Amino acid sequence: MAAKPTLGIGLIGSGFMGKAHALGFATARRVFDLPFALDFAVLADVDAALAERAAQALGFRRATGNWRDLLDDPEVGVVDITTPNMLHREMALAAIATGKHVYCEKPLAPTAAAAREMTEAAEAAGVQTQIGFNYLKNPMVTLARDLIAGGEIGTIRSFRGVHAEDYMADAEAPWTWRLDPADGGGALADLGSHILATARHLAGPIASLTADVATAIGERPVAAGGVERRAVAVDDVARLFLRFANGATGSLEASWIATGRKMQHEWEIYGSEGAILFTQERFNELRLYSTRDRPGRRGFRTIFAGPEHEPYGAFCVAPGHQIGFNDLKAIEARDFLEAIAGGPAKGPDFREGYEVQKLVDLAYRSAHEGRWLEV
Ligand SMILES: NC(=O)c1ccc[n+]([C@@H]2O[C@H](COP(=O)([O-])OP(=O)(O)OC[C@H]3O[C@@H](n4cnc5c(N)ncnc54)[C@H](O)[C@@H]3O)[C@@H](O)[C@H]2O)c1
Repeated sequence: MAAKPTLGIGLIGSGFMGKAHALGFATARRVFDLPFALDFAVLADVDAALAERAAQALGFRRATGNWRDLLDDPEVGVVDITTPNMLHREMALAAIATGKHVYCEKPLAPTAAAAREMTEAAEAAGVQTQIGFNYLKNPMVTLARDLIAGGEIGTIRSFRGVHAEDYMADAEAPWTWRLDPADGGGALADLGSHILATARHLAGPIASLTADVATAIGERPVAAGGVERRAVAVDDVARLFLRFANGATGSLEASWIATGRKMQHEWEIYGSEGAILFTQERFNELRLYSTRDRPGRRGFRTIFAGPEHEPYGAFCVAPGHQIGFNDLKAIEARDFLEAIAGGPAKGPDFREGYEVQKLVDLAYRSAHEGRWLEV
């Protein structure tokens, strides 16, 4: 058997997502028959000591306190960006300029203009890109998309979506980069981008929208337990009304102050012949209602994820035993690596990140101007 070509990964950032990406690649190489042998080449973080600790823990061969070291490294084929949003543009453009493929966390950039610049640079350079809208990689979301495409719930009429968590619900939760307006916004940019991506994935392009955003906690401690406080200018909660290009209507909410909610990436989609319900809090399940069931026997049935739902079976042979959040990153990594190898580009890629960022920007403008806006 011919040896697989080797692809080196250069990971920037080792926080929440840096670890998830490292685990995603590590799982992908065990679970899937990847087109490459993976080399966990270099990990970069803000300083050498932090990078060294993270590289050891996550299995990277080398570490650096300067992400630019990755750019000229011939052993790095993929630059994987898991840093705060405001750094994505500079890092991605530099990586693209060296001809490396780029995997970047969401939101792609703080503004649609920056997202567009990154998208166009990648397309002009002919490099593959991937953005971390990982919820789209869930086998049950793929099933939902297949059910919709197969006409099993008829014509799509309505979409209701939420992405709500509570990690900023405590008024004493200290300042983080997520509150810096330079990162592109608050809950809508951070969490709303995920549910907008899901809305597009399931119900198609959005033609117009109107939005309302609010800052519920007007100032926060600069540091945990400190007395110095800083005014908050970004949204804690946002609500959008949507009109899809296919005529369906929708609504969605993004919140990081939804006390008690840990991962309510939840949506409902209603068609002329059925409906599908989903929540990430029980993400190995999909609930399906069909008007094709006979009267008196109709009701939502629960479908549990199993080997019939690709690629669940690569993780576990037994249905209902469940996959986890980091496994979605493994599926995302597989899809990206297959696209790099010339396989189908399943995305979501930078262009999709740009399409979502256009909606985020437009929603903030709509909230500011108090009116519906066309996309
Ligand atoms: N897809 C998802 O489900 C998901 C979940 C959480 C976060 N995110 C996204 O991932 C990105 C990072 O979020 P996070 O929660 O992992 O943040 P984090 O704060 O936990 O981690 C950020 C990492 O970047 C490093 N970093 C910062 N500046 C750097 C620099 N100049 N050079 C090198 N490293 C640098 C930090 O030291 C840290 O290791 C954001 O864009 C965020 O929106 C996505």
